[in-house]
Amino acid sequence: MLGRVTAAWFSSPTDARERLAAQGYLADPATATTTFLAGALDKPLLVEGPAGVGKTELAKAVATATGAGLVRLQCYEGLDEARALYEWNYKKQLLRIQAAGDQAWEETHDDIFTDEFLLTRPLLTAIRRDEPTVLLVDEVDKTDVEVEGLLLEILSDYQVTIPELGTVVAVRKPYVVLTSNASRELSEALKRRCLYLHLDYPDAEREREIVRGQVPDLDERIARQVVDTVGRLRDLELKKAPSIAESVDWARTLVALEIGDLDERAVADTLGVVLKHASDQERAVKELRLPR
Ligand SMILES: Nc1ncnc2c1ncn2[C@@H]1O[C@H](COP(=O)(O)OP(=O)(O)OP(=O)(O)O)[C@@H](O)[C@H]1O
Ligand SMILES: [Mg+2]
Repeated sequence: MLGRVTAAWFSSPTDARERLAAQGYLADPATATTTFLAGALDKPLLVEGPAGVGKTELAKAVATATGAGLVRLQCYEGLDEARALYEWNYKKQLLRIQAAGDQAWEETHDDIFTDEFLLTRPLLTAIRRDEPTVLLVDEVDKTDVEVEGLLLEILSDYQVTIPELGTVVAVRKPYVVLTSNASRELSEALKRRCLYLHLDYPDAEREREIVRGQVPDLDERIARQVVDTVGRLRDLELKKAPSIAESVDWARTLVALEIGDLDERAVADTLGVVLKHASDQERAVKELRLPR
């Protein structure tokens, strides 16, 4: 039954690039190719890289570009099966048991472990949907290793086993995107099941396009200044280098303040938009010789 319905996600890397771009997501050639392949090979896509380089956004853009629904599992420390997969609705089960009165236990037992008493969480939701679905497992490195175990059955067989109900097999395989900041190594078993994409800061030209795409009121010259300055800040090996998200915020700030030239004074005055640690700001003031 596996893959009874196969959705055509993208027809080629070019198609992926164009349709993502139409949603405002500008993919480099490696990203476009891997995004196409994940759909064509029905393989989960593991996207790794620093904060704010467009990992989460890629999954969202794939969903909007293909008209698929987005199901998101946000990972965090302590996330467990009951939050990720499913849990039984104990309250409702108890009420049912009470209402059963003298009914034979076997009968009641068969009643309360049915769909009606199941609370589905994102992973099971994604497997059961019969509409095209993008499943985003966001920040998978934040979970405990045990959660990776849960993911393996889904990522390799697109199915979930519920002891009381049996195995739920996906009617339609979701397009799966996992993101990670690489705060810890993911297991080899998990990696083996995925296609891997390393996202990093884009080159200056692409970053200018991204910034200008999101802040249309920004003129070409300031866009160049923003991206160049952000590039210089990234070279400083700061505690937290500015990401694409910060370049975009900086551009918005300059438009809001009607600053027509990003000179040293303007950089110094708006540094808090791009650098969020006092030590990083001090470093930047010193290295870029900014006025205090
Ligand atoms: N290729 C791109 N095209 C268009 N916008 C982009 C691109 N990459 C990043 N962005 C912008 O950068 C912002 C941050 O991206 P996103 O939230 O996906 O980062 P992330 O990699 O998931 O970071 P984190 O690890 O902090 O979650 C997005 O909201 C988007 O505006
Ligand atoms: Mg993210």
